[in-house]
Amino acid sequence: MNLNERIPNNVNLSEDKRLQRALEKWLPNFLAWWHDMGPEGFQEKDVWLRTAVDVGSEGWAHFDYVKMPEYRWGIFLEPAEPDARVGFGDNYGAPAYQEVPGEFRNALRRIIVTQGDTEPASVEQQRQLGHTCPSLYDLRNLFQVNVEEGRHLWAMVYLLHGYFGRDGRDEADALLERRSGNPDKPRILEAFNQPCDDWLNFYAFTMFTDRDGKYQLSALAESGFEPLARTCRFMLTEEAHHMFVGDTGLSRVVKRTAQLMKENEDVRELGGIPLEIIQKYINFWFSYSLDLFGGEISSNSADFFAAGLKGRFKEQEQYTDHVATEGSFKLMVIDGGKLVPREVPLRNALNEILRGEYVKDCEKGLARWNRVLADEGLPQRLYLPSVRFHRHVGEYAAHYFDLEGNLISKEESAAEQSEWLPNVADREYVRSLMKPVTEPGKIANWIAPPASGIKGKPFEFEYVRL
Ligand SMILES: [Fe+2]
Ligand SMILES: [Fe+2]
Repeated sequence: MNLNERIPNNVNLSEDKRLQRALEKWLPNFLAWWHDMGPEGFQEKDVWLRTAVDVGSEGWAHFDYVKMPEYRWGIFLEPAEPDARVGFGDNYGAPAYQEVPGEFRNALRRIIVTQGDTEPASVEQQRQLGHTCPSLYDLRNLFQVNVEEGRHLWAMVYLLHGYFGRDGRDEADALLERRSGNPDKPRILEAFNQPCDDWLNFYAFTMFTDRDGKYQLSALAESGFEPLARTCRFMLTEEAHHMFVGDTGLSRVVKRTAQLMKENEDVRELGGIPLEIIQKYINFWFSYSLDLFGGEISSNSADFFAAGLKGRFKEQEQYTDHVATEGSFKLMVIDGGKLVPREVPLRNALNEILRGEYVKDCEKGLARWNRVLADEGLPQRLYLPSVRFHRHVGEYAAHYFDLEGNLISKEESAAEQSEWLPNVADREYVRSLMKPVTEPGKIANWIAPPASGIKGKPFEFEYVRL
């Protein structure tokens, strides 16, 4: 692991002068992007961040004050496995690809660019949040997530520069040129063009949208293209913290709301966030995040699997048949204006199978939050809407469903929109609560403090020196 180079790395960058030069040329563009589009107003502050010092499981043990632009952006891959093999698909058992196979070049580049584009996008979406943090602890977590997403961009850019030549370099440049929510040059996936301008959005985003990242990265960590698999395995270690921030963040909001509800049914009177609004934010981010998995019936998913590029979640652990040419999967489609079951070949349903794993994982979060409600003695419960609700990609796009997944008319759907999804008044109300709390040990009134601090430090610790 070479941490002292201009670009810290464990890929022997200094031995590949061409790649090193290309990345050193990209570095100032990245820093300019970070300066323009990274967290606004805190670039000079000391933030208590964890930094990679090693790719082993202990590699994350290093915590210290760092100014974000000086964060150790770099290229860290999990060590190579000796005799790695393609773990699934038509080339199952063949030696893993160490270079990009010509026939899969476009597919692979598309996978990497699509993943890469999400990383800077989320930083852009979250860039104003520091100004309204509910505590220094939360502010620090926001910045930790932001710098790691910046490093994830590095991870994908390394693959583009290292393995795709000229068009890879062009794609790497374009990753710094698109902008979240920009009508002329938007980010590729819609969830990453949605505004994330209050902390309830932030927690829901890191709970649901970063969790999509976990499943995409897990599927790519199985890839027969070794450099991609090793890159994604290391990224997954960082992603866990992002989901922790979202899951516990929402849990703390739920807890505070429950406490306030016992004082007054109408928590607005006390400056809390009503459960109905929390539910609407869940509906919004869960449904947009479901879209990120792609169409339910997908020839792309079949092609990526056949090629050995993108596997299933825990492909090696969970499955014995890694070829998956037999068998089918039953899912619900719209036919003749009705929801009907359809059997599709297994390989064509892999997006839906990955989405199913994701939904199961999200349900665990809901169970945790509902336990908080139960512990506070309240009968109300939060839930996930049907996977058909509010979809913009796949079989259910262009149709309308209620929260339970029943097919309804466009008019019926329109009439309920502001009951099911955050409306302007909800968003304005939540924004009205977002007043910065930056005194160590203090917390905003609409959220409960965390159960513990970061890495053994108390909640009162000065996580960011303002
Ligand atoms: Fe990421
Ligand atoms: Fe993330």
